[in-house]
Amino acid sequence: MLSAEQNKALTEVGPGTRMGALLRRYWMPIAAVAELDDAPTKPVRLLGEDLVLYKDKRGTYGLLDRHCAHRRADLSYAFVEDCGLRCNYHGWQYDERGRCLAQPFEEIAHPDARYKDRITLKAYPVEAKAGLLWAYLGPAPAPLVPTWEPFTWTNGFVQIVFSEIPCNWLQAQENSIDPVHFEWLHGNWSRAMRGIVGRSPTHLKIAFDEFEYGFAYRRMMEGQAEDSELWTVGRTCLWPNCLFTGAHFEWRVPIDDGNMLSVGWFFDRVPNEMEPFAQARIPYWYGPIKDETTGRWITSHVMNQDFVAWVGQGAIADRTQEHLGESDRGVAMMRRRLTEQMDVVARGGEPMGVVRDPAQNRCITLPIIDRERWVKGFPRSKMFSSEIQKTPGPVLPEGFVFQAGQPAEIRDAFRKAMGWRPSSPEP
Ligand code: FES
Ligand SMILES: [Fe+2]
Repeated sequence: MLSAEQNKALTEVGPGTRMGALLRRYWMPIAAVAELDDAPTKPVRLLGEDLVLYKDKRGTYGLLDRHCAHRRADLSYAFVEDCGLRCNYHGWQYDERGRCLAQPFEEIAHPDARYKDRITLKAYPVEAKAGLLWAYLGPAPAPLVPTWEPFTWTNGFVQIVFSEIPCNWLQAQENSIDPVHFEWLHGNWSRAMRGIVGRSPTHLKIAFDEFEYGFAYRRMMEGQAEDSELWTVGRTCLWPNCLFTGAHFEWRVPIDDGNMLSVGWFFDRVPNEMEPFAQARIPYWYGPIKDETTGRWITSHVMNQDFVAWVGQGAIADRTQEHLGESDRGVAMMRRRLTEQMDVVARGGEPMGVVRDPAQNRCITLPIIDRERWVKGFPRSKMFSSEIQKTPGPVLPEGFVFQAGQPAEIRDAFRKAMGWRPSSPEP
């Protein structure tokens, strides 16, 4: 059980907070590359700061204070210029470094005053990688955006899924190191909701290993072989705010203390017969979390079930009221590490897992179950033969199993990539 003070330290992410200072040392995914191609400005709230993300006509990305330095108009409605943004209120213009490039009336009234040289807007670096746009809100020099191993894979259909979840990011990240929840929240609950008799295989033992980029968690369930990669390799609670399952990532990006953006990045290898396969544009979509007819949370898909658990803990889970047990050993490890790393940053040090070496960043390997399958692919006849990717237990919905609401055109593009007919039932 934590004290109220410890709970506060772990969950407050705004400017000037200890956790905020730690999280600002890492790049955060905040949008899809394709999203800015569709609309060149996007209002963003990140770590308690209101910002605007944009792509100017020259193709440069920027992340600026949402509010103009003149009289605070909302720059997500600005004109997109060749270079930067121009406020729609009185025309002041800014570039991606926050420099003020123009102040139309001031320049007419006082041509020699160069008032604009004294104006700077808050600006943060943005980088594109893996179809995502990443932001860094920490001190310079910015580290590298990690090139996680799956970002280097080819011949896969990638899609990006966003949902805003009204709870603190940490209860979501605690779920990234909680193997036992899978049996209940996904396995048994799905069965119960679908009226299926019988229980999901139960966990017999769990283990956690720390490494440079987080923790691997391993599980042994009833009926599982000792040499199963679920036990020998495991899945990854990726530092500081991500779950990595071997083929998909789920970042829990803090919007502010009581809200987070869930960012899913999913890779599905096409069968060998469909190679070579490449995407001109990585599609993205926003997944609904509420059933509009009932006003209740959607419960049908894996991540929606996770969302139900997280929001159910409250906007900010009250860890002074918990009773941790053996299943929470990973959660406790992670909290200890977070607290220690907040201290490292408070003392002026560099926290763990920051990537600065370009050679190392060509490809950062992670624990991956069934790696061969992702790297080399498989013939169509083996497409559904790998049981190992599927943690035994869950009863999954048809189609895209992770989140509700996948748009039909993305489902069709996926089916086409796999060599399936658009509207036929799943083979
Ligand atoms: S408020 Fe932006 S130019 Fe005046
Ligand atoms: Fe889950």
